Amino acid sequence: MAMPTRDQVSALLGEIQDPELHRGLNELNMVRKIAIEGTRVTVLIALTIPGCPLKDYFHTVIPAKLTQGYPDIGHVEVELTSMTEQERQALVGGLRKDTPGPFARSDSSTQVIAVGSGKGGVGKSSTSVNLAVSLAKLGYSVGLLDADVWGFSVPRMLGIHERPTVVGDMIMPPEMFGVKVVSIGLFTSEDNPVVWRGPMLHKALQQFLSDVHWDEPDYLLVDLPPGTGDVSISIAQFLPGAAMVIVTTPQAVAEKVAQRAGFMAEKTGLVVAGVVENMSYFTGDDGKRYHIFGEGGGAQLAQRLQVPLIGEIPLNPRMRELADVGAPIVLQDPDSDAAQALERTAKELVNLLPAKPKPAKRISLPLLSMGAEAGHAHAHGH
Ligand SMILES: Nc1ncnc2c1ncn2[C@@H]1O[C@H](COP(=O)(O)OP(=O)(O)OP(=O)(O)O)[C@@H](O)[C@H]1O
Ligand SMILES: [Mg+2]
Repeated sequence: MAMPTRDQVSALLGEIQDPELHRGLNELNMVRKIAIEGTRVTVLIALTIPGCPLKDYFHTVIPAKLTQGYPDIGHVEVELTSMTEQERQALVGGLRKDTPGPFARSDSSTQVIAVGSGKGGVGKSSTSVNLAVSLAKLGYSVGLLDADVWGFSVPRMLGIHERPTVVGDMIMPPEMFGVKVVSIGLFTSEDNPVVWRGPMLHKALQQFLSDVHWDEPDYLLVDLPPGTGDVSISIAQFLPGAAMVIVTTPQAVAEKVAQRAGFMAEKTGLVVAGVVENMSYFTGDDGKRYHIFGEGGGAQLAQRLQVPLIGEIPLNPRMRELADVGAPIVLQDPDSDAAQALERTAKELVNLLPAKPKPAKRISLPLLSMGAEAGHAHAHGH
């Protein structure tokens, strides 16, 4: 009979990742005891927070991993405890070293894309959400920061209602459809709006970048509030390397939007990389395209800014209906004209702003398929 040694058990446990922190259990100092008696293995795991919703995950994934490695194991007992406040602080300190205002560092491997517009209601948030989900569908790791602190709409559009988990003072962003999301809306309710003033706002945005465990995604999309206010300027300060994409509508007076975008670029120092035209046309039942809001606004703006027009998204009532129930159209109705246009735009975005190469700084071992599923289900909060 081949029973593993404690070191062998430890090595296998090290291959299991905490689904929220994305680090191995050994690296996170979560394994507290390994006992082997006959064919019985007992492990004690210290969770980062008491009552952590990951209990089921560990009860499933640990026995599966160990018995897969050593089929002669008869029974795996998983005991759970939780870390002391001190241990939690030490862990957070360790994680934070990885992320000191991570996106501002010159060696950051995240391509940050701020999505802005000259005016409100042009579909900035819808575009940000669907592009983020499309990038995730293409296999990229994606974060989405809702920087529209007054008019946040990202949580609703993605159907996220749970508060983020906080470990020590690090915020674990909830993940939906493969996109990690942070929004003021996750900390407050839509009918209880926040009244922020300058310095507080600046601080809140800074925290959303430095105290959130984003884990260096390939892309971080930032849904800016409309216009050229304080928020955009703060964001630009924290994200000096960000590119900006301007969403506009066909009827927008290119001259005016270009002026605003130019002003924004000047004030923030962000470079405009491209233009997306939204609500470009509507396809009737007769198959004809109707240019309800006029024609050419996006192309004109792109020309004026001397950047490419990277997408023309048609008007499609499904896009709004689905957004209202938290189901992005690129997932829910991928064959629709709007979804196809959004996915094409995401690919254009990748061509224009390729993902940066990842440093080979840590090996992330794949979880067992079973474990990955359990982790997935948890992350989606179902
Ligand atoms: N292509 C489209 N087809 C149909 N409806 C759309 C389309 N784009 C956006 N909408 C709808 O238009 C409304 C405004 O869109 P959205 O909230 O994305 O705009 P915004 O620019 O982020 O607005 P704000 O300036 O308020 O942040 C939403 O109800 C959205 O569902
Ligand atoms: Mg918006």
